[in-house]
Amino acid sequence: MTPPVSDQQSKTTWDADADVVVVGSGVAGLTAAVRAVELGLRTLVVTKGRLPDGNTRWAQGGVAVVLPDEGASGDDSLDAHVADTLAAGGGLCDAAAVRSIVGAGPDAVNRLLRGGARFDSDASGRLARTREGGHSAFRVIRAGGDATGAEVQRCLEVAAEGLPVLEHHVAVDALTTASGQVCGVRVLAGPDATPGVVRARAVVLATGGLGQLYRSTSNPEQATGDGLALALRAGASAADLEFVQFHPTVLYTPRAKGRCPLVTEAVRGEGAVLVDAAGRRVMQGVHPLGDLAPRDVVSAAITHRLASAPGGVDDHVYLDATGIAGFAARFPTVAAACAAAGIDPERDPIPVVPAAHFACGGVVTHTHGRTDVLGLYAAGEVARTGLHGANRLASNSLLEGLVMGRRAAEAVAADLGAGRLPRGEARPGPVPVVPVAARPALQRLMSRYAGIGRDADGMAVAGSALDVSTNDTPLWTVGAVEDAALTLVARAVLAAASAREETRGCHVRHDRPERDDRAWQRSQTVRLNPSGQPVLTDPILERAA
Ligand code: SIN
Repeated sequence: MTPPVSDQQSKTTWDADADVVVVGSGVAGLTAAVRAVELGLRTLVVTKGRLPDGNTRWAQGGVAVVLPDEGASGDDSLDAHVADTLAAGGGLCDAAAVRSIVGAGPDAVNRLLRGGARFDSDASGRLARTREGGHSAFRVIRAGGDATGAEVQRCLEVAAEGLPVLEHHVAVDALTTASGQVCGVRVLAGPDATPGVVRARAVVLATGGLGQLYRSTSNPEQATGDGLALALRAGASAADLEFVQFHPTVLYTPRAKGRCPLVTEAVRGEGAVLVDAAGRRVMQGVHPLGDLAPRDVVSAAITHRLASAPGGVDDHVYLDATGIAGFAARFPTVAAACAAAGIDPERDPIPVVPAAHFACGGVVTHTHGRTDVLGLYAAGEVARTGLHGANRLASNSLLEGLVMGRRAAEAVAADLGAGRLPRGEARPGPVPVVPVAARPALQRLMSRYAGIGRDADGMAVAGSALDVSTNDTPLWTVGAVEDAALTLVARAVLAAASAREETRGCHVRHDRPERDDRAWQRSQTVRLNPSGQPVLTDPILERAA
């Protein structure tokens, strides 16, 4: 392939013929790209910002993994990690997927260590371990105290050096052949959003999540659900979309909007406790794991405590970490965010509030990364493998990105080798014209009616308000692509959440407060109907292994 264009100023677009284009440059994307190159595939990475701009670098807590030779606590085991993942997932995990992905964690982490990743050590020189919500053992390894994602990203960027990357290119939609096979993506390039196409025999989506559906989120600006929308429009199915995980503790600042600094669960792992404005413990008597309950339980308990405050006026609780000596050395990222807000965690309780954090659902893939559309693969947060069920276990996502990024690349190589991806001819049609809602209004609606605590009436209001506020818009700009994705994804989340008439995991319904295993111990699948509306379809289809 001719060298790629990766500078922001260029007006050139890329019309090469790659084996695989990886969309996204976080943990899953770079892992996929590096593995694809190792397997001899002509590989191109397309990313809508700069290479390091995705969600990965913001991950604090760590990687959940049981490495027996590296100081795992004696009573920990793969079985225990699997059991904790299943318990957190509220009865909706795919047990085989959990064992497959969690079981591949040690190899993935060892590869990263061999690649030069610098994880924190304890006094004996072994990997330091902490606990987070839902974990029954100290098994979360970390880097830089609370900067694990940044170290994973750094290490993968080193491994990806020399790889062709198109920065500041947003994927608009999939190029498909007459038979529906995906064979590349249409892109908008650079500050002028110059249209172009990237042809490839296979596309791996690794575009991350959708936190920007909500006013407050731990996710960066890039997390607008683009990959999920692209996959739905290409004919793929998605599942478990109603399960949007809210992290219990982001730093509270009045009138916060957009990305809020995370206060890692590991702070509670080291002994901090949640208290309300009156100093009463929030988690006392709520769950046997107390402040280290799975995060859906903690987020719901905080939300409940705020709603039941006298006069309903409290808008945050506090994380009392004053008992943690050397806080700034152990949690430098959190300490810096607190310092910027004038808070000293060694003296002052940290004001915190839940915020949108992670999409437990996504594009349906099996544990090899294939979607149900030929030529389209997905890995990382954009995908739904069945690992997370109704609520992801803390620090399982970097692990999933490492494992599934690699597997997606291997699936592409296997499919190419077996002749399953015939060379497809696709002419990009006209620029799509799709419904787009204004982002601030959409975020207000989703935060008010589809956050923690939903009911049928509120979701109906949100759905109708979205319907009347959209305008059909051609996808000529990056903003339009993102807003169109948010609009489609909001509708899909509302469709799934309205249909699920129970409370389970991250899906908390005031009007259906009980979990109903008889009717609802199953995932829901969403596809687009011929007019582009997200609709619920049959249970998840069995796909080729
Ligand atoms: C955290 O550090 O609390 C977040 C880690 C995660 O979301 O897995």
